[in-house]
Amino acid sequence: MTLEFNTRVGDIPVYPAAATYAFEGELVKLASNETPWAPHPQVLEAIESALRSLNRYPDPAKSRLRQRISERTGVPTGRITVGNGSCEILLSAAETMLEPGAEIVYAWPSFSMYPHLAAMTGARAVTVPLDAEGRHDLEAMAREVTAATRILIVCNPNNPTATALPPAAIDAFVADLPRHVAVILDEAYVEFSTLQDPDDSLDLLERHPNLVLLRTFSKVYGLCGLRVGYALGSEDFRLALDRIRQPFSVNALAQAAAAEALGHQDEVERRVERTAVERMHVETALAERGLGTTDSQANFSWVSVGDRDEGEIVRGLAERGVIVREGTALGEAGYLRVTYGTREENDRFLAALDDLL
Ligand SMILES: Cc1ncc(COP(=O)(O)O)c(C=O)c1O
Repeated sequence: MTLEFNTRVGDIPVYPAAATYAFEGELVKLASNETPWAPHPQVLEAIESALRSLNRYPDPAKSRLRQRISERTGVPTGRITVGNGSCEILLSAAETMLEPGAEIVYAWPSFSMYPHLAAMTGARAVTVPLDAEGRHDLEAMAREVTAATRILIVCNPNNPTATALPPAAIDAFVADLPRHVAVILDEAYVEFSTLQDPDDSLDLLERHPNLVLLRTFSKVYGLCGLRVGYALGSEDFRLALDRIRQPFSVNALAQAAAAEALGHQDEVERRVERTAVERMHVETALAERGLGTTDSQANFSWVSVGDRDEGEIVRGLAERGVIVREGTALGEAGYLRVTYGTREENDRFLAALDDLL
């Protein structure tokens, strides 16, 4: 007898996690859009003091963290949903809104989790190609919205192409969409965008009751190992997600760390500045080697390798201890996605690349 799974399981793609390679020596990990810096010392202290209460369940209401997010954003706590990474919020949103007959619209290539949402619920995924510069084509996306559309996702800045649109463009786009469509603006990398201040998107929430801003502590805050993200949307959105999820999905260490991290905006600014310096360094070096990139507004570059074999480059870099991602695994052949590390790590990447090309 073998186990029997429901028919949807077979339709769900396996998440293309970055491979880890057996390499003797220090690995340069530029494959998962992480930050290269350890958490702030006071965040580590907050985690250490939470350790002593691990015999207790975490706060299911995430009250302190939601209060801190509210103070930071001005959004009332009732409209703040905290999740086990922003991925949990995406998956739960799909569970609450999608079903056979419903539709979800998103651009492609975009974040690798999005195809899971339709596959796991039996809804129809409508994907819209990015424009020639790797940006969302909002007009084409609007044309795909029907009475059956329940969710439309805009990833801004977009993973994996790193491009972004200014909030004014998103504002006009959402204003023209029917109100029954939940527009999820995935802002995992928004702090790195030079096109806006992260707070600019908050104004959009006031104007569009169907808008959900999705944010994470995994990127600029450097806490991806703990899994915590949040959404700012309507109270209905939060209540629906809370009904479908287990009550204790965000662990106590994650809640304590995220609440503390929000108090260190000077550190966020420092990281954004250092990332911008590395972006310039890497992009300039790639251009000198004849490799084009899209206009990155994130902590990574989407690098065109032309007619070279991208798989060979990725394997060659891995043999030299540098891990990056192949475009094919992320939706488009002919590209590498390279996260910025420290200057030393970036220079190891560039040296390995020189060795190969
Ligand atoms: C666009 C985008 N959204 C969401 C996430 C997920 O982040 P989290 O760690 O909060 O689940 C990622 C992670 O890579 C991402 O690139």
